[in-house]
Amino acid sequence: MDLADPRVDACIAACEAGLKRLLRTSRAEVFLYAANGHGAWEATIANLLAPGQAVLVAGTGHFSDSWALQAQAMGARVVGTPYVDGRPIDPAAVEQVLRDDTAREIVAVFVVHTDTASGVTNDLSAIRDAIDRAGHTALFVVDVVASLAAAPFDMDGLRINVAVGASQKGLMVPPGLSFVAADDQAQRVAQSNPHPRFYWDWSRRRSELSYRKFCGTPPQSLLMGLEAALQLLFLEGVDAVLARHRRVADAVHAAVACWAQSPGLSFFAIEPASRSVSVTTIRVGPGIDPDALRQVARERFQVAIAGGLGALTGQAFRIGHLGDMNPAMILGCLAGVEAAMLHQGIAFGQGGTARAVAVFGGRG
Ligand SMILES: Cc1ncc(COP(=O)(O)O)c(C=O)c1O
Repeated sequence: MDLADPRVDACIAACEAGLKRLLRTSRAEVFLYAANGHGAWEATIANLLAPGQAVLVAGTGHFSDSWALQAQAMGARVVGTPYVDGRPIDPAAVEQVLRDDTAREIVAVFVVHTDTASGVTNDLSAIRDAIDRAGHTALFVVDVVASLAAAPFDMDGLRINVAVGASQKGLMVPPGLSFVAADDQAQRVAQSNPHPRFYWDWSRRRSELSYRKFCGTPPQSLLMGLEAALQLLFLEGVDAVLARHRRVADAVHAAVACWAQSPGLSFFAIEPASRSVSVTTIRVGPGIDPDALRQVARERFQVAIAGGLGALTGQAFRIGHLGDMNPAMILGCLAGVEAAMLHQGIAFGQGGTARAVAVFGGRG
């Protein structure tokens, strides 16, 4: 489509409005990028942090490590909170680091809502309280890449200054489109940030012209996909979408709890309340090769499961259960994983898929 066609502008406007509705914000402005999630991370760092300035990246495992590495590479001074395997962020640790920052050098607190590697979802409300208790003015910046349209999120209610997301997970769109939603406070910080930037610069993106909004040609096919996906989400109803994710996750967790009666398999996320509604990470014991399991699941049973990331490489497999997902699809997946485990001679507690069926049937 001609990029000057008014339908392109209308599509972009619908995407911006839909994302704001999904994020539950009327305060923030949405900036879309022809980029993956790392692009949106880079946009956040480039706008908020000048080299030498400090950011607190709360430890969640692989994805907080990656974001911290990127901030460091761009010259920021990164402070962290300790990450304990399989545990969510400790809000008291966040509070302590902010209290210790008596010179108020920390510009922002970066939090990954759901770390896709660990399968742990963090308590954003507790982290908001921790920042408030410390009386610190740092911006609250949240990565919702793996949680948006799956787990509840309330940007304005929690006074989150920046939300960072991408197209390919709960939004059900192919990869390559990402976004940052930034409120006034964040935009004021960006305005006074002298760090040179161009493509990522929020102020350059503020235009009615779609060509300017994207600093060039808009990724039309992805935008049309996002507009359609948002329509589907609103047609189903956001509360219903979240409830569907909760139910599907409950079914997966019931199956994994059953499998984990065998000592070679366990939930990586230790606290049941922190287990994500988007992805479940299953740790495997010695003698179990998760990548061989994945290959068998994919090739023999047409079930795609993910591997362990970062420190969990070769030690875990992951079941993704977000986005375009319904009971029949996840039951097929769970049964396929059981078949693959049987094929591989992996011992697992019996009856997992039946437990998942019971959850859907209201008997779980
Ligand atoms: C929570 C989270 N943040 C950021 C990213 C980075 O996104 P991308 O791979 O699109 O660059 C991912 C990717 O899986 C993710 O899961």
